[in-house]
Amino acid sequence: MGPHGLFCQKVVPLPYTLTKTGDYYRLSRAIFREIRPNCDEPEKRGGEAFGVDMMQENDLVVVVYREKKYLKKLEKDKSFHGKGGILPLASAVGCPWGTRLGEYEVFRPTIEDIIMHGVRRETQIIFPKDAFFICSKLDLKCGSKVLEVGTGSGALTLLLSRVVGPDGRVVSIEKEERHHRNARKNVEKLAEFPNTELVNTDVNDFEGEGFDAAFVDLREPWLYLARIRTFLKGGAPTGFIVPTANQVSETLQALRQGFGDVEVMEIIFRRYKTLAARLRPEDRMIGHTGYLLFARKLEMVREMRVEGDFEEAAPDPDAENFTE
Ligand SMILES: C[S@@+](CC[C@H](N)C(=O)[O-])C[C@H]1O[C@@H](n2cnc3c(N)ncnc32)[C@H](O)[C@@H]1O
Repeated sequence: MGPHGLFCQKVVPLPYTLTKTGDYYRLSRAIFREIRPNCDEPEKRGGEAFGVDMMQENDLVVVVYREKKYLKKLEKDKSFHGKGGILPLASAVGCPWGTRLGEYEVFRPTIEDIIMHGVRRETQIIFPKDAFFICSKLDLKCGSKVLEVGTGSGALTLLLSRVVGPDGRVVSIEKEERHHRNARKNVEKLAEFPNTELVNTDVNDFEGEGFDAAFVDLREPWLYLARIRTFLKGGAPTGFIVPTANQVSETLQALRQGFGDVEVMEIIFRRYKTLAARLRPEDRMIGHTGYLLFARKLEMVREMRVEGDFEEAAPDPDAENFTE
């Protein structure tokens, strides 16, 4: 681009050196004057004139500086102070979603940005690498009715709410009042759909039924399993996250009563440096978050003798590759 700012395919000479506070704001005003000469008010610049979706005052945005991200609201008199300089947030108002302003890139936040950079954390949260996988194992879709046991900070709640959509329902139980209050603030501020009910109660005192799926993030899930089972539809996928291997063993023991299709897994996630010429993994990674367990509610268990002649099963050619 050289010494020009490119905006909506219009080249505008840069009259400013972008070093001081307010430079970006003045620059954006200069650009807009060029595009809409008679309109100095950001709200009236209107992206519709260019067929482009524009950022508006009070929109939630993610500001990206190198590998760092910050969730911000485009408030009139506020600035973002970061390593890339001072960015008056109003300077993004009227720009298309996905704009580079000086050293910063400004985008519409993804659900991952919201969870990682918007949620006020009072508890350990479930990270996106686990959370997105959990949604697929619970077979969540638009309209699902899902139960979450252990709201914590509401990080997973936000994703559940997004995945089940406006016709779905999330009910999330939290026994600690302070966590419940914090999660409620997070959900009120950040959730997209009004489909979530946060309940401040111990799971032992909760009453409910007909859930399509459940996710349990408690330290001792095996103590509550029999009760949680009563809230679920037959066959409902149910997930658990626990940080240690002995908690996995306890949960597995408990799942023998009334659950089938049991699986245990862990998700290892590694990021790469984005240097095209020297592509390699990041030096540091999060080595462990938690073990995931999944199972499905058995509605009925009927003991029966299966009659008939069976041929002896052929040996599995791959069997030697597996160890029990
Ligand atoms: C690790 S946090 C959950 C974090 C959450 N998954 C997130 O992503 O933000 C576990 C929560 O379970 C809650 N909890 C523990 N025992 C409970 C019980 N019996 N009934 C309801 N909530 C419980 C704790 O107070 C804690 O806030």
